[in-house]
Amino acid sequence: MPASPPIETEESLTTQRRYDRQAALFDLMEVPFEFLAFGKLRRRLWGDVDGAIVLEIGVGTGKNIPFHRADTRTVAVDISPRMLRRAAHRARRLERDVDLVLADAQHLPFPDSAFDAASATFVFCSVPDPIAGLQEVRRVVRDSGRVHLLEHVRAPNPVVGRLMDLANPIAVRMSGANINRDTVSSVAKAGIALDDVESRGFGIIKIVRGSTGQRPSGQEEREPPAQEMTNDVASR
Ligand SMILES: C[S@@+](CC[C@H](N)C(=O)[O-])C[C@H]1O[C@@H](n2cnc3c(N)ncnc32)[C@H](O)[C@@H]1O
Repeated sequence: MPASPPIETEESLTTQRRYDRQAALFDLMEVPFEFLAFGKLRRRLWGDVDGAIVLEIGVGTGKNIPFHRADTRTVAVDISPRMLRRAAHRARRLERDVDLVLADAQHLPFPDSAFDAASATFVFCSVPDPIAGLQEVRRVVRDSGRVHLLEHVRAPNPVVGRLMDLANPIAVRMSGANINRDTVSSVAKAGIALDDVESRGFGIIKIVRGSTGQRPSGQEEREPPAQEMTNDVASR
């Protein structure tokens, strides 16, 4: 198992600092959204996530842990140590086994084809280079593996979209999240085939199902991540 590359680009360190700063209040700030919509959408997304070994990117405080399948090994990464610590507490409280790893989605510390599937909720709005992050997802998921995303994106309505563009610098500073990204296009640009895209909330929320297709022949064989992971912040 290779060590996680150090998180050292200025943009990634800024993202890390922003999420470390808000980790303690993150769940509280999102209570209304979870209650009104996100909770149901998480359940719906994760209902289709299967495989012997699954990667969750940007696990945050672990809100998806209740939806991880009990018969699946889940490896979950995040760039923020403080968010990961909260995810570790949640996993312990729920008595769920999750391998939590400190890593940047843009440089995942896993070999090619290590996972059967990958999932992320509300993450690629804040990864500094979302296409690079999604290319990494493409690399570490096996051929014909599934990628399941729940993301907020720029509104399709041109007026609302423009307002989101104007508000974006403030949103990024306050929360770390870009509110005007076109994450569906980024998925396709990263080489992940779009199987299905569902829109909710006036087109601002997307449930994206993708697949990795076939890797050109001659590339690396599957090698599952080792049990003991470097940077595992929650070894239990
Ligand atoms: C809006 S939160 C969502 C957390 C969780 N997925 C959820 O649905 O509650 C975004 C998460 O992505 C993480 N993140 C942002 N950029 C990242 C990166 N480059 N690599 C790994 N995690 C990242 C943040 O630390 C944060 O925990």
